[in-house]
Amino acid sequence: MCRGAPVIDLRQHNAAFCEEHFLRFCRSQVTKTIEKHQMFGPTDRILVAVSGGKDSLALWDMLDELGYTTEGLTIGLGIDNYSDQSTEMTRRFAAERGLALQVVDLAATYGFSVPDAAGRTGRVPCSACGLSKRHVFDQVAREGGFDVVVTGHNLDDEAAVLFGNVMRWQDDYLGRQRPVLAEGDGFPRKAKPLVRLTERETAAWCLLRGIDYVLDECPMADGNNHLAYKELLNTLEERTPGAKQDFYLGFLRQGLRHFEQGSDTARTDLRACEECGAPTSADRCSFCRLRERASTTSVTVELGSTKHPTGATS
Ligand code: AMP
Ligand code: FES
Ligand code: ZN
Repeated sequence: MCRGAPVIDLRQHNAAFCEEHFLRFCRSQVTKTIEKHQMFGPTDRILVAVSGGKDSLALWDMLDELGYTTEGLTIGLGIDNYSDQSTEMTRRFAAERGLALQVVDLAATYGFSVPDAAGRTGRVPCSACGLSKRHVFDQVAREGGFDVVVTGHNLDDEAAVLFGNVMRWQDDYLGRQRPVLAEGDGFPRKAKPLVRLTERETAAWCLLRGIDYVLDECPMADGNNHLAYKELLNTLEERTPGAKQDFYLGFLRQGLRHFEQGSDTARTDLRACEECGAPTSADRCSFCRLRERASTTSVTVELGSTKHPTGATS
């Protein structure tokens, strides 16, 4: 695009970019995604779920730079040094930029960590972790009156999830695999503004912007299928640049409409969980049931008019 020295070669776009044009390219991909999928507007309050990894830190940085009103949320999952380091990186990023951050420590607030939950319930760690994270995202968004929760899922993540869903023809999951899910019945709107950027691009964004992030992958995710699908797609990408993009963006354009939008919104069978008030189709939500089996202590704190296990700190 200019005569500047190239810093990155993007084979899927058949182009090399200088620093300025690469950063501009990333911003425009994110802006395009936000606008195309009507994720949020300039007056919305955005809760950014931040893990301390490259994607969510790049996302927070971009949204802040683009002038959106954001607040971060990071959850201490209790996974050895990995979690401590992740929380620390996120705190440092927020402090350096003067951004507001809520830190929720799973063990301190709910009485169990992800390894506890996996060990005590026999659940796969990633499944207990995913359930806990979704619950905390929803609860903090509800209580804080946020318009939307955004996560740093990137093109590699979404293509790998799509691959897994297609492998097992999980049509309910395929119908829900959208870059934005509408709010409703106590669930906040959820959006993934980075779905057009690869993890190589978010890593490059962090490098060029001087953002320190946790390099390690979660030690509990070792050997899961998601990582195997990513490797597979990377092999394909190597042979055919653009394969990942065609697969996922093609699904959004042409595939998604063939699957019903199974959703947790607009359901008639939902009521408030007896324990935490979250929307559920049973008496108690799946998080409260997990918590009962996983925790050794009960730490329920009164908040507002309903009973809420909380403990968010700023
Ligand atoms: P993962 O499921 O680990 O691939 O993470 C996907 C996205 O979920 C990240 O980009 C973050 O936006 C969010 N996320 C993951 N872990 C955490 C965490 N510990 N606290 C807050 N948000 C998280
Ligand atoms: Fe959840 Fe690894 S981050 S199990
Ligand atoms: Zn509950």
